[in-house]
Amino acid sequence: MTDSDEEELSEKQFKICLIGDSQVGKTSIVSRYATDKLGKFPATVGVDFYLKRTTLPGPRHITLKIWDIAGDAVEGRMFDKYAYGANAIMLIYDVTNGKSFENLETWLKASHKVTADMENQPIRALVANKIDQEHLRTVKSDRHHRFAQENNLLTYAVSAKTSEGVNLCFQKIAAELVGIRLTKADQEQQQNIVRAEIVTYPQHRMANSPQSSSVKTTVCSLQ
Ligand code: GTP
Repeated sequence: MTDSDEEELSEKQFKICLIGDSQVGKTSIVSRYATDKLGKFPATVGVDFYLKRTTLPGPRHITLKIWDIAGDAVEGRMFDKYAYGANAIMLIYDVTNGKSFENLETWLKASHKVTADMENQPIRALVANKIDQEHLRTVKSDRHHRFAQENNLLTYAVSAKTSEGVNLCFQKIAAELVGIRLTKADQEQQQNIVRAEIVTYPQHRMANSPQSSSVKTTVCSLQ
């Protein structure tokens, strides 16, 4: 077997770090991506690790080592150790929490300090989470895009709750890491199933009270 055959067979590995304030949904995003599950997670202490194998067009098989770093780690002594060597850094905020967006300045600075002496600088991505809560949004998307442009960040918007945008976000970052561009068809393949609830009101109650307690709920999956 030639060296290039071996290289082809051995999977490339990349380290991706998720950073941002507590409660923005970092663990939920990774869990949604790695296991397609969402639960109630205790606050992360230090760091949690996930491994996810994925396939990119080619086909190229790669492994993502995902580091879910605690929301209070930015002030801790271990942050340098956690973030060092990252190939990609995802800066996560919660669209309903303006402070979590403003605090990304601090996270970004801290991450630049850690990676300053690295030969290959990581890709950095700005990720808006909880977009299912549009009615509670306090961070407008023009602020998001300005911050991304000023700091040379890729940008994504996701919901760990509905799974909207989650796979595509990781897949696009993975594609950047190996230096390929996903076609429209590749991207469409990554669209998650978005689950929406359809509430059916009995006809005779529709006219009177849409608040009726006697409703039938069906789950609708769109692909
Ligand atoms: P730390 O471990 O403290 O750093 O928090 P974290 O950033 O990992 O947040 P976590 O994933 O634990 O989520 C915090 C809360 O936000 C939980 O109650 C989640 O259920 C909720 N949450 C996470 N993602 C979403 C989302 O996309 N939409 C909504 N509505 N809630 C979400």
